[in-house]
Amino acid sequence: MTQGYFISFEGGEGAGKSTQIKRLHAHLQASGYEVITTREPGGSPGAEAIRELLVNGEADRWSPVTEALLMYAARRDHVERVIRPALAAGKVVLCDRFADSTRAYQGAGGEAPTTLISSLEDHVLNGTVPNLTLILDLPPEIGLKRAEERGGAARFESKGLRFHQRLRAGYLEIARQEPERCVVVNADAELDAVTEAIWAVVVQRLDF
Ligand code: TMP
Repeated sequence: MTQGYFISFEGGEGAGKSTQIKRLHAHLQASGYEVITTREPGGSPGAEAIRELLVNGEADRWSPVTEALLMYAARRDHVERVIRPALAAGKVVLCDRFADSTRAYQGAGGEAPTTLISSLEDHVLNGTVPNLTLILDLPPEIGLKRAEERGGAARFESKGLRFHQRLRAGYLEIARQEPERCVVVNADAELDAVTEAIWAVVVQRLDF
């Protein structure tokens, strides 16, 4: 592989992304791929510093537009310093959240203008977009309960059920608009069943 392959994982709170990413990472590595796992907001030292500002504090600490700008400042650093170099080296990049999180959380959930978010995508990413996006979908009531049990009400988890319902609808709309890139996976299922569903999609896309 000379150009690498970029896979992003998306979904609401408590969708089980971290577990599934770990499993996919191990499976790809065992199949001979060079893999890195990274996350957003964060993934590079500068972006991790911005993450601290974003995930802590009161729910209304930032407006949705300010949040989108901070997310994109972090994303640009992460893309420049981690994602592009890994792809250029031919690696598979697994990213826990990427640009669709901004569309869903700040756009659909927070109602920041779509035109602003599209324009940030165009100008800041310059074409570095995932080859494949796996959207782990489940009812927000279930996801929020899982996230709560996991501990600590983080800033985005405390935004209320209606926000999380808009967020889920936002993800499903992204998948409808970009069916080539996005695959919706039912995350309201046994862990192993979700792992198998993800593997079935990835096998089809990568060279095995
Ligand atoms: P995490 O809990 O998956 O680590 O993500 C941190 C939080 O940041 C999560 O609640 C979703 C939120 N987020 C956004 O609101 N917009 C974004 O663009 C990203 C990447 C994350």
